[in-house]
Amino acid sequence: MRVAFLGPPGAGKGTQARELAREWGVPHLATGDMLREAVTAMTPLGLAAKVYMDQGALVPDDVIVGLMRERLDALDASKGFIVDGFPRTIAQAEALGRVLADSGRALDAVIFFDVSEAELLRRLTGRRVCRQCQATYHVSSAPPAKTDVCDRCGGALYQRDDDSEATVRKRLEVYARQTAPLLDYYRGQRLLVSVRGEGPIDGIREAVREAARGAW
Ligand code: AP5
Ligand code: MG
Ligand code: ZN
Repeated sequence: MRVAFLGPPGAGKGTQARELAREWGVPHLATGDMLREAVTAMTPLGLAAKVYMDQGALVPDDVIVGLMRERLDALDASKGFIVDGFPRTIAQAEALGRVLADSGRALDAVIFFDVSEAELLRRLTGRRVCRQCQATYHVSSAPPAKTDVCDRCGGALYQRDDDSEATVRKRLEVYARQTAPLLDYYRGQRLLVSVRGEGPIDGIREAVREAARGAW
């Protein structure tokens, strides 16, 4: 199973990908998570990326493509993968196509999570993330059993720097301008499957399973 999860910030890509990657036995390759790890480790990549991330802007395509090429060519991705938050521009989509074609692979499906803007704002400004295992919570709609403590690993929860209302609005604008054109791009390749991203998390997971089964 080689799938890409596409959707605006807060659409639930990470929430669904984390569980489904485990279920399908494939790696969950989230560019945002990789970049945040690099920021925490203060690597040159992380320090360069942070400037863009804090503004809600995209990190340059060549940086992202280099990072993902290496990751997609690693052994564990040979049996399949879920890419989450990548590709995010037409240039990244074209590069992904080339990287996969170089090893005789191609995407099976691109799953689009459809969520209204009001709901995205509500989700992002209330999101909390585990520092240790990256599990995602929401202060009102998916709270942990104990405030600010991860149910899965006991790690401390934090609010992402880019989840302030001003930066969220900027990220939504950047999505509309630079990423939304991918909908037509993948529709043209007959790879796009749209899933309603609002409602109970389990119900959405089942809709994604079904979309993936249809593509297989
Ligand atoms: P990234 O980390 O990818 O952020 P994003 O795309 O903005 O998406 P999010 O992670 O915010 O949303 P999500 O869809 O994963 O939602 P989640 O499941 O957490 O990127 C961050 C930055 O890195 C970018 O701005 C950019 O600078 C850089 N970057 C990353 N990739 C890049 C690339 N390819 N090119 C260039 N730059 C790149 O859910 C959100 C909230 O909603 C949570 O609180 C969750 O609990 C809740 N929730 C989920 N599902 C439901 C539901 N069904 N009902 C109610 N609440 C729900
Ligand atoms: Mg995410
Ligand atoms: Zn945790």
